[in-house]
Amino acid sequence: MAFRDLRDYLAALDREGEVQHIEEEVDWDLEVGAVIRRSYDLRAAAPLFENITGYPVGYRIFGAPAGLSRPGREYARIALALGMGPETGVGALIEEYIRRKKSPINPIIVANGPCKENILMGDKVDLLKLPVPLLHDGDGGRYIGTWHLVVTRDPDTGWTNWGMYRLMVHDATSMGGLVAPSQHIGMMYYQKYEARNQPMPFAVVIGTEPLSSLVAATYLPTGVNEADITGGLRGEPLELVKCETVDLEVPAAAEIVIEGEMLPYERRDEGPFGEYTGYRSAHAGSPKPVYRVKAITHRNDPIMPVSCMGVPVDDAHATMSVTVAGELLDDLRCRGFPVRMVALPPQCAQSMAVVSTRTPYPYFAKKVAHAIWASQAGAVLYWVMVVDEDVDATNLDEVLHAVVTRCHPDRGVHKVPNAPIYPNLSTFTDPDDRLAGRGACCLLDATWPKHWHPEDTPVKASFTVMWPREIQDLVLRKWEKYGYKGGIS
Ligand SMILES: Cc1cc2nc3c(=O)[nH]c(=O)nc-3n(C[C@H](O)[C@H](O)[C@H](O)COP(=O)(O)O)c2cc1C
Repeated sequence: MAFRDLRDYLAALDREGEVQHIEEEVDWDLEVGAVIRRSYDLRAAAPLFENITGYPVGYRIFGAPAGLSRPGREYARIALALGMGPETGVGALIEEYIRRKKSPINPIIVANGPCKENILMGDKVDLLKLPVPLLHDGDGGRYIGTWHLVVTRDPDTGWTNWGMYRLMVHDATSMGGLVAPSQHIGMMYYQKYEARNQPMPFAVVIGTEPLSSLVAATYLPTGVNEADITGGLRGEPLELVKCETVDLEVPAAAEIVIEGEMLPYERRDEGPFGEYTGYRSAHAGSPKPVYRVKAITHRNDPIMPVSCMGVPVDDAHATMSVTVAGELLDDLRCRGFPVRMVALPPQCAQSMAVVSTRTPYPYFAKKVAHAIWASQAGAVLYWVMVVDEDVDATNLDEVLHAVVTRCHPDRGVHKVPNAPIYPNLSTFTDPDDRLAGRGACCLLDATWPKHWHPEDTPVKASFTVMWPREIQDLVLRKWEKYGYKGGIS
């Protein structure tokens, strides 16, 4: 049975010790952000703030909604969201993501839902009635959208897109955020609505059952309805309800829905913000489109999920290392690449993909890397490492060992200059290049060269390779007799 709403999911996390209820008063002004950040650093339970300075009791913030958990169950929050055991490893989650998303399930439209318990319009609209945190010192404002979905519709095809695009509060009735031209929201806004001088209706949905936000944060092809993919991952349809003031539908059991329009050619400074790169990468805000709010609907005692992005590993890094890695793996397999696994190590801030593969012919790794860079996610995957299939791509220890022992420091490095990047998000570029969107990417080919004779290839000195099978079996059988506990699987 899929989770009906965020509250159902929180109860499941609670049963697994994944929630820290915080009854102590906590200030939305930097304190909430600092607690969330420290919870990532310690791989502690997700903080549920139940007493926020200046806000009614009952209004809550749920921090670190997809943050990594303690060793041995790092991906517990994502695994539980998928109804899987908390100890499920990232490789198994990736394979299950691919399996389920291939059977999408259309949502159903219902007449009403919990998100309509309070309907605020006209002069009742005030975004700061919600406990919106100032997350990092130096942020351009209080961020209301850090773990949510933005719903927009293509005016030509009727396709509905969900994406997670950060949102800062400007004032009681307007918000701003990064609307990148290469993201689906940017394509709709700049190329369609603004080009026709029309306002773009939007709905921002905060606090859903857990899979909707994971899917919104995943690069899915143009024309794919994220609601259908969410249904596929849930194994049952999502219930959607119509908005009050715009022609869009939203998850009926959502905690908070913000409706409105983005007017053409309107800009207001937004940012800076502590980014997923692990840095505040701009000194000041910059002009971005404005979300003008017409209505807010919310459940009684709403719960607002909040991600406090920054140095890895936060919710974005953890999520994308499952869903975006799954998209890339599926795409490569569909194109006939004999890949075993694609990993986006969460420690690498979504900037590196590792692909383990069979190499059918010399220099195959270059083809793999260019296929990755050609994908939508490839725009920020500056580093691609290709390793042989005997290397577990999800195990950073194995990957680093393979790179330093198999990648030739000259022939194994393939640099691509002038690759397009998002301004400000590739921290290593010169300031001028950053603004011009001019970056670079690099392949580290850590596969043994195909043209070597087999006897020229060094043999791995590992337990499973350097000892005969019968000795391995003997040692595993006797492992506990030696006095060890566990470690026999
Ligand atoms: C917490 C979080 C915040 C994000 N913020 C932004 C953002 O401000 N702008 C953006 O373009 N992408 C952002 N992303 C990444 C997008 O959600 C992701 O690329 C998604 O695929 C966008 O949807 P689309 O493919 O339909 O455009 C964020 C992701 C996460 C997890």
